[in-house]
Amino acid sequence: MEVLRTNDEMSKWREERYRKGQIVGFVPTMGYLHRGHLALMEEALRRADEVVVSIFVNPTQFSPGEDLDQYPRDLEQDLKLCRDLGVQAIFAPEVEEMYPSGFQTRVQVEHLSQNLCGLYRTGHFSGVALVVTKLFGAIRPHLAVLGEKDFQQLVVIKRLSKDLNLGVEIVAHPIVREPDGLAMSSRNKYLSEEERSSALSLSRALLAARNMVTEGERRVDVLVARAKEMIEAEPHTRIQYVQVVDEETMTDIDEVTPKAVMAMAVFVGQARLIDNMRLSPSLPCLSSP
Ligand code: PAF
Repeated sequence: MEVLRTNDEMSKWREERYRKGQIVGFVPTMGYLHRGHLALMEEALRRADEVVVSIFVNPTQFSPGEDLDQYPRDLEQDLKLCRDLGVQAIFAPEVEEMYPSGFQTRVQVEHLSQNLCGLYRTGHFSGVALVVTKLFGAIRPHLAVLGEKDFQQLVVIKRLSKDLNLGVEIVAHPIVREPDGLAMSSRNKYLSEEERSSALSLSRALLAARNMVTEGERRVDVLVARAKEMIEAEPHTRIQYVQVVDEETMTDIDEVTPKAVMAMAVFVGQARLIDNMRLSPSLPCLSSP
């Protein structure tokens, strides 16, 4: 497995694969890899001849006061996990390599970035769009695998790849959960044992809403009220939002449709956790078992 640190090294690596006619798959990450990331890599390895994983904690997607400095990092462990899985290359640039002095370009995906997390994390999706555009430019992969846990991010990246003719096929992977339902996230590391137990209320609330829909409930306000009640009943929780949106447009809806997704962001202790689930009984659950 090669560890590439600069855009030039990355481009050279990719040119060699293109010359050999190989399909290049890509998994963008901020490191501190867990089983959810490994599932994305396995999917990429199934679909591509060679796979690059980027490990870069991107400063432009953190707002002032967020956890950029505390964000967990463990490059040695990440490299070992990727090597053991059979990943061919890691792209791990320094901040100065990605954003050298004089850098001044911005990428904004307008409407899709505004609702949900966009309401509370100013500039977040613009930072994600910027770094993903740069990574796609340096790597020029044929396909990229992204997780449905960051469901708004996934929709934003699909749009940007299409709008800017980046030619990268975006493959969505279902949320990977712990056996007790907690969606895997690098930020779960922040949770104490008691907070982790409270955090289970997110997936429970989503499942309860989905079950209510299966039993015939279609009113979004009723579903949201029940989900909030379940989360607020747990200690250490502070809801940022619980909303139901159309999974393609990210706009709020009042009645459940086949494209309805319940999405939420909840602080549990210091950790800001997000989770989501499709509500329609006619569609498969987003979560893998
Ligand atoms: O989902 C993440 O880990 C990040 O937002 C991404 C896509 C790697 C961009 O920094």
